[in-house]
Amino acid sequence: MTGGPGRQVLHQDALPWLAAHPAWPGASLLTSLPDVSEAGLPPASWPAFFAEAARLCLLAVPDDGVAVFFQTDNRHEGRQVSKAAMVLAAAAALDLPLVWHQVVLRRPPGTKTMGRPGYSHLLAFSRRATLPVEQRGPDVLPDLGEVDWSHGMGRAAAAQAVAQIRRASPSTTLLLAPFCGLGVALSAANEAGLEALGIERNRKRAEKARGPA
Ligand SMILES: C[S@@+](CC[C@H](N)C(=O)[O-])C[C@H]1O[C@@H](n2cnc3c(N)ncnc32)[C@H](O)[C@@H]1O
Repeated sequence: MTGGPGRQVLHQDALPWLAAHPAWPGASLLTSLPDVSEAGLPPASWPAFFAEAARLCLLAVPDDGVAVFFQTDNRHEGRQVSKAAMVLAAAAALDLPLVWHQVVLRRPPGTKTMGRPGYSHLLAFSRRATLPVEQRGPDVLPDLGEVDWSHGMGRAAAAQAVAQIRRASPSTTLLLAPFCGLGVALSAANEAGLEALGIERNRKRAEKARGPA
């Protein structure tokens, strides 16, 4: 035991947990909602699943907390799918303001990426938290940082998101990370002095996310 902030990872479906725990006191949230290939659902069910996951994540934080989504658009059945637009639609349905929006480069500018976008979006929503522009990082983050897997959030992007959450929401003591994968968001939270709670349905990933990495 180091005595620093801790983390817990629940190995379960995140949706019922989120539905049962709205407006968790002291929480902000950082997540990367599953794409169709990670959701384990028939493709036709995925848009409704995604919209419901986004809605529950937005409702999981109290009014002074921040919910941040790291989303990479993709291609599905020959069409471009904007997960960022889907998250924005879920927030608009709840009348939740967008507090900041950054683009994170996954590839150097000018790289031809053959349909898989060379960028990801960081979208932050809150009912009451705000962040003056002079306290924000750059609109375009030049580098994801180290990634543990192809769909990963990247350590630099996660650290930047957590730093901005802390500035915008000083009352935050816990970072919720539903769909936490290998736990990059949990590590970023612990390194910034926040407690962390991850939820991951894949057993092996949940076990790895419990580790210090
Ligand atoms: C986009 S990945 C997260 C990647 C993570 N941001 C990272 O950088 O390591 C989405 C994760 O959601 C998990 N997942 C999919 N459906 C889930 C569900 N219903 N409940 C909890 N986890 C789920 C997948 O197993 C996958 O690890």
